[in-house]
Formats: sequence, C-alpha cells, structure tokens
Amino acid sequence: RCCVLIGAPVEAGAGRRGCGMGPAAYAAAGLGEALAELGFAVEHRGDVVPGPLRTVDHPNPAIRNLAEVAAWTAALDEAAFAASRDGFPIFLGGDHSLSAGTIAGMSRRAAAEGRALWVVWLDAHPDLHTLDSTESGNLHGTPMAYLTGRPGFAGYMPGPDVPLKPEHVCMIGLRSVDPVERRALAAGHVEVHDMRSIDERGIAAPLAAFLERAAHAGAMLHVSLDVDFLDPGIAPGVGTTVPGGATFREAHLAMEMLRDSGLVRSLDLVELNPFLDERGRTALLMVDLAASLMGRRILDRPTRSS
Ligand code: ARG
Ligand code: MN
Ligand code: MN
Ligand code: MN
Repeated sequence: RCCVLIGAPVEAGAGRRGCGMGPAAYAAAGLGEALAELGFAVEHRGDVVPGPLRTVDHPNPAIRNLAEVAAWTAALDEAAFAASRDGFPIFLGGDHSLSAGTIAGMSRRAAAEGRALWVVWLDAHPDLHTLDSTESGNLHGTPMAYLTGRPGFAGYMPGPDVPLKPEHVCMIGLRSVDPVERRALAAGHVEVHDMRSIDERGIAAPLAAFLERAAHAGAMLHVSLDVDFLDPGIAPGVGTTVPGGATFREAHLAMEMLRDSGLVRSLDLVELNPFLDERGRTALLMVDLAASLMGRRILDRPTRSS
C-alpha cells in the first residue's frame, strides 16, 4: 500500500496567482503524516517539471498561457502514467488545468490494464469549455472538454491518447455553468448532479448509483476534487468561490463512500489557493477529506475494499 504524492504547482490556468503554493500548503497541513497514520508507505515524488514551451498562436485572443498549460499537461500525463504503476497517486495542485494531464495519464494506465477510466468530478463548475469557447481565457475551465474529446484541442495540446467516455464521468456539485457548457451537458452523456439535485436527493443516493454502475463495468476510478466543490464558508482558500457548495458532512460522506467502493486508484486535489486561505483552514480540510477517501473512519465498519 503505497501512496505517491506528486506536486503539480500549476497556476497558469487560473485567473489569479497563488495555486502554485498548493503543494507546500498540503505538506504544512500534514497530508504525508495523515497518510502514514493510515498505514500507507508515502513516497514524496516532488514537483513535476513542465517541459520546454512551444508557443502556438490560437485564434481565440482571450486564451492565456496556452503553451504553459500544454507543457504541464504533457508532463503530468507522463507522471500520472508512471506513478500509477507504483502506487496510489495523489496530485497536489495547482489549478484544475492539471487534470487534463493527470486524468489522461490515468486513462492510459486503465487502458494498459484492459479497463476504462471512470471519473468522479467534484466541482462547482463542469470545466467543459473548449479553446474556442472560453471567454475568460482561463484554461482551468477547459480540462473536461479536452479529456472527453471535444473538438479544437489537436495541434495545441498533447492528447489525450485515450479520451474519456462522457458516460464514464459523474459531475457532482455544479452551480456555475456557462451557456456553452450547459448546451454541451444537455447534448452529451455526462452524468450530472447539480446542487439542486443534491438539495433534493442528498449526495449519497446519486453517488451510490454511479458507483454501482462503475463497479459493474469493472471500472478504474479517478476522483478530481476542486476546492470550490465545497461551500466557501468552510473552504475560503480558492480563487473561484461560488456560494451554496457542499457541506462538511456531504463532502466527507462522499469521500467515505468513494473509499468503500474499492474502485478509486488516484486523486486530484485542485484549486487550493493558500494565498487566499484563512490560517490554513482550507488546506487542513482538504487533507481531512483526502484522509477520508484513503480510509480514515469514525468507527470500524465492514467495507467492500477491506
Ligand atoms: N466557467 C468559468 C471560466 O471558464 C469558470 C471556470 C472555473 N474553473 C475552475 N477550475 N475553477 O472561466
Ligand atoms: Mn474545476
Ligand atoms: Mn471549480
Ligand atoms: Mn501522448
């Protein structure tokens, strides 16, 4: 049981600086110690280093830092593929553009094992913009479009070699969706549980149904946890706060259920902005949520994975 911690201090995809301080904040908040306490051998692999920049002009003038994000994506794709052979990778962001790389690498890993990668995307946003549709130009709003093979990334971004099937993606917590993204979700096959649906049904029932479907399919599961999935009242350390997010208890329950599924093989912790945090409370909460996902329990109870 080895956990591989991989720093991805990407902030080129975000609208404001500070996400690059994420890996240091997770270390200060005790992520390594929390995992060791759960019985994991913890390997600190350090920060990924993006390769040389290859600048290509894109017709959308809003786009910012495309060459940087493309270089991070290629490097993280490789890092994820390699680390997932050695243990359970946890990617310490960094803004959400990093998931373009980590999930593409995990998708290649799944394919190498003759399986498909399924993704639980916990976020206020679907991050489904293409390079053509983004108006903010912040590329952390694009990884899900890249990963699911929406058009317009070829020639600008390195992959993905093995795109995700939209029906293998479950988005939970959405409450800020741009018109283009709304149309893409309406026309596509991504499973979506927005905040209204969570208010009406709770978080357990929809997540259990998705996990059941994934287990049936023999899926390998990746979890991408954006800080802004959480309510800003408990998680202020993020650049894109949206009111009405998941509560402390909803988030922990989701993590515990994901753990119990026995399907999760990798995790992104993204969008933590320590520069905007309050006395480290968001970093500490993210560490506690990661610990729940990795098996921390209030009481012992039988699970499918243990
Ligand atoms: N949809 C908005 C945009 O494209 C917000 C994206 C926020 N994404 C994130 N990973 N925080 O700019
Ligand atoms: Mn996001
Ligand atoms: Mn978000
Ligand atoms: Mn490739």
